[in-house]
Amino acid sequence: MTPTPVTEQSINQAADLLRRGELVAFPTETVYGLGGDAANPAAVAKIFAAKGRPADHPLIVHIASAEQLTDWAVEIPDAALKLAAQFWPGPLTMILNKRPDVPDAVTGGQTTIAVRVPSNPVALQLLQAFGGGIAAPSANRFGRISPTQAGHVAEELGDRVACILDGGACSVGVESTIIDLSDGQPAILRPGRITRSQLKAALGTEVRLSPQSKIRAPGMLAVHYAPNTMALLCPADTLIAMTDELCGQGKRIGILAFSPAIAEIPCPNLIKLPEQAEHYESALYSALRELDSRQLDTILIEQPPDSEAWAAVNDRLSKATV
Ligand code: TXA
Ligand code: MG
Repeated sequence: MTPTPVTEQSINQAADLLRRGELVAFPTETVYGLGGDAANPAAVAKIFAAKGRPADHPLIVHIASAEQLTDWAVEIPDAALKLAAQFWPGPLTMILNKRPDVPDAVTGGQTTIAVRVPSNPVALQLLQAFGGGIAAPSANRFGRISPTQAGHVAEELGDRVACILDGGACSVGVESTIIDLSDGQPAILRPGRITRSQLKAALGTEVRLSPQSKIRAPGMLAVHYAPNTMALLCPADTLIAMTDELCGQGKRIGILAFSPAIAEIPCPNLIKLPEQAEHYESALYSALRELDSRQLDTILIEQPPDSEAWAAVNDRLSKATV
């Protein structure tokens, strides 16, 4: 499936495909989504089949504006309205109590639903043209790296999708922050570009980090977002020692660096990412995908700082590595 350039016509055609129960991959500011009509259980079943995703793993419903929240959720707390006003459209997903008529296929049989208004203009135009909610997980095969360019989607899903709208590279580059607002105790289920401090400040209350054991989201499984090549996360000094050791054994290694010292290691498969957390985050998945395509024995990833700005990156790297 060759990605389709974005025009008013291709967006209208994509909306028609959705109405007919077909799948459309589209850009969001975070990663590309694999979209289907959230109100059509047969379309939602196609999403699970195309991804190879277990049926009990719920999907995010994308909507055009917060006004459509009541089509999907009930008992919407003030906190949700506050966050919607401040962060939507944008990379924030809220977990709310679902309306009884929401198809079980979307929520994996849970009583809650994930909703988000994306800010990417192509995503918003598609949502407006379609009119309803679009259920969309990241447009990758289950457990693999999320796509941040249309070409990545074509590689992963090929003809399992009726159309791939090409909106260029995603600006944020990692999946949305997920906050659970379903039980009065706000909790982050997946860190993303919108930080815990920003959410706390907006709500004026404590926001918990959900314990890893409470697996309600596949993004919370220990290995996820993973390249096929074995990947190890190491502090700079360990990375230097490992490079010597593995190269000495004749192994082909790849290095993902951000600090100037590591970037100087003479290695043909070294990718230097930006030192600034947000820029690193935007480029991370593309770089991992690139190294994964080079038939290496091991990918060594330089461990980023343990600060809030790096929370989403550290979360994804810990799941991409052994
Ligand atoms: O940035 C994003 O969120 C992207 C773009 C396409 O919007 N989507 C995305 O979808 O990352 P996906 O399916 O790859 O990840 C959605 C996460 C999953 O970990 C899922 O389990 C969780 O959201 N989720 C969905 N509904 C949930 C619910 N009711 N309770 C808890 N977690 C839920
Ligand atoms: Mg995903």
